[in-house]
Amino acid sequence: MSSDRDFGEIIYGLSKKRGFFWGPSPEIYGGSAGFYDLGPLGKLLKNRLEDTIRRSFVRASFWEVECPTVSPAIVWKASGHLDGFVDPVTKCTKCSQAYRVDDLILEQVPDAKVSGFSPEELTAAIKEHGIKCPSCKGELGPVEKYNLMLRTRLGLDQEAYMRPETATSTYLLFRRFLTFFRDKLPASVFQIGKAYRNEISPRQGMLRLREFTQVEGQIFLLETDEIEWPRFEAIRDDVLPLVSYQTQEKGSEKVSPTTMADALERGHFQKPAYAWCVHLAYSIFRGLGFTDDMMRLRQHLPTERAHYAKDAWDIEVHTRSFGWVECCGVHDRGNYDLTRHQEFSKVKLSVKVDKKPVVPNVLEIAFGVERPLFCLIDNAYAEDKERTWLKFSPHIAPVQVAVFPLMGKPELLGPAREMHEAIMDSGLVAQFDVGGSIGRRYRRQDEIGTPFCVTIDYETLEDGTVTVRDRDAMSQARVHKDALIETLLNLVHGTVSFDSL
Ligand code: GLY
Repeated sequence: MSSDRDFGEIIYGLSKKRGFFWGPSPEIYGGSAGFYDLGPLGKLLKNRLEDTIRRSFVRASFWEVECPTVSPAIVWKASGHLDGFVDPVTKCTKCSQAYRVDDLILEQVPDAKVSGFSPEELTAAIKEHGIKCPSCKGELGPVEKYNLMLRTRLGLDQEAYMRPETATSTYLLFRRFLTFFRDKLPASVFQIGKAYRNEISPRQGMLRLREFTQVEGQIFLLETDEIEWPRFEAIRDDVLPLVSYQTQEKGSEKVSPTTMADALERGHFQKPAYAWCVHLAYSIFRGLGFTDDMMRLRQHLPTERAHYAKDAWDIEVHTRSFGWVECCGVHDRGNYDLTRHQEFSKVKLSVKVDKKPVVPNVLEIAFGVERPLFCLIDNAYAEDKERTWLKFSPHIAPVQVAVFPLMGKPELLGPAREMHEAIMDSGLVAQFDVGGSIGRRYRRQDEIGTPFCVTIDYETLEDGTVTVRDRDAMSQARVHKDALIETLLNLVHGTVSFDSL
């Protein structure tokens, strides 16, 4: 990730000032890196993202489940996380500060190629690039592996871990799913819930959290389903911004807009079902307001893949604060997980195919909510000589409407309050503001990304019309109060454009 530090500071400054997020948390005790509090606007924004994501999964026939966030050690031994979920770490020999090595090298030498390096190779890379401790300039020690799970204890002495992904807790339900889905595969489920990673020295604010909300969709299916995947037909002509493994092998990260059918033909994807999952992840991100000019889908090099993955594609979003940011992983996990849990639990996790037991495969879409949330704020930021504004898509904006009486006079306050209540009753989130000049009130709403402001003035008392103002163009239209709610709902959900009013 390359970065534009000053811009990052602007985004963090605005987010703190306006109540999107605060931290590191707990602030009054000095803060622990990797923990953030969401303020009222951040929580509203996160809820909107989660609602949009939930609707996309349900629409694609996934069923939501919720599992515990803590599991005994055996689960993580079986999943491979106890042995394989590790980061390379070095400690300063002078001040003892610990660092995640690959991030540290890339921060100082952005073009360095260190992906998939062993601890010995990373130790050599530190020497080769002359990397020193960023805080005291001391010599860095040898690189070691460090497990990222947060350890805890159940009762007096049962070793347990906070889940580092929701996926594993979903897989443990496989036998229950077979009953629920009446033994029919493919079966699709998802979870939205907390996950924990004990990052060694998180230094990228909201992008590297020790506690975060994960969204993970899982499809259990047989190899024949992966090839015969009828839902591929509906997306075969859609063009996606792809960066394949083949492209990267040629030393380039250039996006090639490619139809899904071509991508399959050229071998970027081996199986239509997996290609469909990558497309679903892409559509979810489109639904959150990301556009093709700020997104790319990049295939992992074999050295980058997690211990369970046979193939992996990431959705990366471009930010001014941190350059390209990995926001979502789509994984072909094969039958790794169910085979391991069958072995360790001694419970049968297979289905019968031609009277023989077969352990199904899993395709997975995995992402944290906080990263897209940060990337949306970063991409929404706009400023000119007069003002700063966040150009969120209206359906994602935390506050959707602001209601202003032109002045704090009783004859305007009464109708304005009534209008505010009616807008809130329609399900939209509206803020009432009577403080300061209209110009100052517009600026405050611009800074939190409110797409529409409604002003009640003396004309309202005469002819029943109000002013509706559009955040981005700053243009205004007069709308009759009887049509106001329907107009606002249409504007927020994008079914009419402001210009058509
Ligand atoms: N479940 C995959 C991940 O956590 O990235």
